[in-house]
Amino acid sequence: MNFRTFILGLAASFGLPWLCLIVIPAMKYQQLTPVAYDKDRDGVEGLYPPAPVNGQGQLVYIREGCNQCHTQMIRPVQLGLDGWYKGWGQDQEAKPAAPVRPTELRDYLSEKYALLGIQRVGPDLANYGWRAPDAGALHAHLYAPLSVRDWSTMPAYKHLYRLQKIQGPVSERALKLPRKFAPPAGYEVVPTQEADNLVGYLLSLKKDYPIPGQVPAVAAAPAPAKK
Ligand code: HEC
Repeated sequence: MNFRTFILGLAASFGLPWLCLIVIPAMKYQQLTPVAYDKDRDGVEGLYPPAPVNGQGQLVYIREGCNQCHTQMIRPVQLGLDGWYKGWGQDQEAKPAAPVRPTELRDYLSEKYALLGIQRVGPDLANYGWRAPDAGALHAHLYAPLSVRDWSTMPAYKHLYRLQKIQGPVSERALKLPRKFAPPAGYEVVPTQEADNLVGYLLSLKKDYPIPGQVPAVAAAPAPAKK
């Protein structure tokens, strides 16, 4: 084999996958625009995807590396192999399972970065906005994951919170923590602006809207009651 064939072969073996896996999908994605629902056909009005995510909070999510452990992508069923099954991407505990569907390209149009994630160490968060507890409980989880689930391996994001001396009455923003995780007497823990943005982002994660032109899907069903 001469040198020229070698270089050509090398270029082809890296170039072709690059073209097929990166360039073409990126071009396809860039051409996508939100689509309007047809009231008669889809039973809903407005644009799909409807709600933008909280962009400031998404930046915090990226910086803290949350997508090292959490995906936001529900696989389609391909070649008859089960990717998705009912209840996937849901809280695996006792709460009522809301119907979900596999995510598709347009679901990510309302956000600046599509954070598909790398590995599923923690639960998938594609539809976390539907099953999230209230903001206060979510803050407590981020501050001390072990205070919510004693088996959690998620790191504590204490640096997104401020420990401050209680002056006058306890702040209404102060986290309600079990005694083991509570600050020393006379102190309280309050969220910083960044923690608020992050929680706003997590609550805005909903990728379960009906897709125009498809069965008004599973998604049109009401969200499960919050606990
Ligand atoms: C080292 C891996 C890891 C990292 C990094 C991580 N998590 Fe987690 N996360 C987990 C695990 C494991 C769980 C399940 C146990 C629990 O609920 O604490 C979890 C649970 C959660 C839940 C609850 C999900 C549910 O369905 O109830 C949320 C919300 C969450 N993480 C958000 C975040 C955010 C936001 C960040 C970044 C600031 C982050 N996680 C970083 C591993 C991680």
